[in-house]
Amino acid sequence: MERHYQGGVPDIKDASICHRWFYVSRCLLPANWVDAAVADIVKVSRIRNESLGLTGALLFTGRRFAQYIEGPAGNVAMVQTSIEGDARHGEVQTIESGDGQGRLFDDWSLAYAGPSLFLSAQVESVLDEAPHSAARLISILREFATPED
Ligand SMILES: Cc1cc2nc3c(=O)[nH]c(=O)nc-3n(C[C@H](O)[C@H](O)[C@H](O)COP(=O)(O)O)c2cc1C
Repeated sequence: MERHYQGGVPDIKDASICHRWFYVSRCLLPANWVDAAVADIVKVSRIRNESLGLTGALLFTGRRFAQYIEGPAGNVAMVQTSIEGDARHGEVQTIESGDGQGRLFDDWSLAYAGPSLFLSAQVESVLDEAPHSAARLISILREFATPED
């Protein structure tokens, strides 16, 4: 049976109340800080996203971030405000947002971090609005996403 509420409190894992935000941004960190900064972002995000019922994945190509976040609309909006104001990146461009897709991710994870010509090309094609590129990048994020144990 589908559960929408637990004791009057919305079930934060419930797919029917799932909102999504998918964006691409540009890294503004100097090269020698990048690894530590990404590790810090991942550490903070794991804890905060889990507490807010947010799932999804982050991908980092060395130059660009791409991130898919899904969960209760208010919680996605709260984290979106933090992310948009974060000086470690800029040019935050929303690729997709809205309701009604259900959850695509079981967890929140770092899908990939490091230089990759293939992934850079995928992200650039999304920014160029190439047909189907956003859906393709989301599939890549899902494939690369490693569930936490
Ligand atoms: C590319 C990028 C992705 C981020 N992703 C998340 C995230 O998924 N969840 C999260 O809580 N913080 C994320 N952050 C960190 C937030 O911007 C922010 O530093 C953190 O949530 C603390 O929030 P506050 O500064 O509003 O207190 C991300 C930062 C960057 C640069």
